[in-house]
Amino acid sequence: MPNVTVIGAQWGDEGKGKIVDWLSERADVVVRFQGGHNAGHTLVVGDNVYKLSLLPSGIVRGTMSIIGNGVVFDPWHFRDEVARISGMGVNITPENLQVSEQCPLILPLHSDLDGAREDASGAGKIGTTRRGIGPAYEDKAGRRALRVCDLAHLDDIGPQLDRLLAHHNALRTGFGMPPVDRDELIVQLRDIAPSVLPFVKPVWTTLRDAKANRRRILFEGAQGVLLDVDHGTYPFVTSSNVVAGQAAAGSGMGANSTGYVLGIVKAYTTRVGSGPFPTEQDNADGEKLGQRGHEFGTVTGRKRRCGWFDAVLVRQAIAVSGVAGMALTKLDVLDGFDMLQICTGYTLDGQPLDHFPAHAAEQARVVPVYESFEGWSESTAGARRWADLPAQAIKYIRRIEELTECPVALVSTSPQRDDTILVRDPFLD
Ligand code: IMP
Repeated sequence: MPNVTVIGAQWGDEGKGKIVDWLSERADVVVRFQGGHNAGHTLVVGDNVYKLSLLPSGIVRGTMSIIGNGVVFDPWHFRDEVARISGMGVNITPENLQVSEQCPLILPLHSDLDGAREDASGAGKIGTTRRGIGPAYEDKAGRRALRVCDLAHLDDIGPQLDRLLAHHNALRTGFGMPPVDRDELIVQLRDIAPSVLPFVKPVWTTLRDAKANRRRILFEGAQGVLLDVDHGTYPFVTSSNVVAGQAAAGSGMGANSTGYVLGIVKAYTTRVGSGPFPTEQDNADGEKLGQRGHEFGTVTGRKRRCGWFDAVLVRQAIAVSGVAGMALTKLDVLDGFDMLQICTGYTLDGQPLDHFPAHAAEQARVVPVYESFEGWSESTAGARRWADLPAQAIKYIRRIEELTECPVALVSTSPQRDDTILVRDPFLD
């Protein structure tokens, strides 16, 4: 099966957009399988910069793009993103973009609740994107969500809506918010439905046919494994499974279809929002990484927290997600550092620890053990061949491979799609 699944192996923002764009040229279909418009994938093609949150990255190149059932779908955001990207000259039609009928809808009441909870949590807040992602997944699991298919049956939506609003109005009362205006919500749904329905399909049939015809399918993950609701730094996580296993369930394909798993790994570490971050550098080194790496959120504009490469966390993310090879990104951001550090292990209360613990209090107490590396003064920006890299940079990469027990398949040396060193082709592996 010549398919590839791309996932982030840290806390998101690893540079997945560029790698997916790079791979999508060779794919026949690109599928999103989890998350929603909390994602921020930046694609630089020539002079154009495309910022996508909900649409699969393949759309920019006209590749068949699918929003799978595992995605929570904000129809208003969808309409606006389609209009914005179309306005940049990209041809978007139901011929090249399909939305699963089974996606749960994100409604305004979900972002209301997301924001109200965050505001009420004080120092304990998660630092969500406030886009209603968590509340929408809760309603899906609670079996009261409205789904994309319901947009075609709005005359019959009354009982479902009553069930949903009974739940939300009780919560809203608790948070001091007015109840949802039921009639107004129906008007809003009637207004948005025509912008979505032409794209709606049983997308599993498209994927079934693609598989039968041996088409190359690229599964595009969002966020990163350390934000996975099971395997991440709970409770400071997103509300979906982010690991590669979700590519099958979130698209409607079998577990044997997801192919080669490519983990995207940034050459250092960043995180947006709250939660533990053992190698965080709240100092001049962190500032330098942030400035050189332009570490500001694509979706919220928030400044990202920055720190050294954490090989323990990446090794764990690789193991729980079955990653076969890494794409190492933003290597050029490390150019010109005198010294670099890699975290090779932790201590917890003075005892060595070779993994990240599950309990939040222990997560907050782990102390990183570092290995120091001499940096390199040469520029790696724009390097396209292994031979273009300075010896110290190669040493740094080799040590990351050893510590994470995973080979590097690609190295990315600038936001430009062609500034990529190919070591192993994921589609051919
Ligand atoms: P939510 O996904 O909006 O519920 O936010 C939960 C956590 O995931 C917060 O820490 C967010 O900052 C983080 N998060 C969500 N999406 C992304 C992403 O695409 N990149 C990086 N962090 C993300």
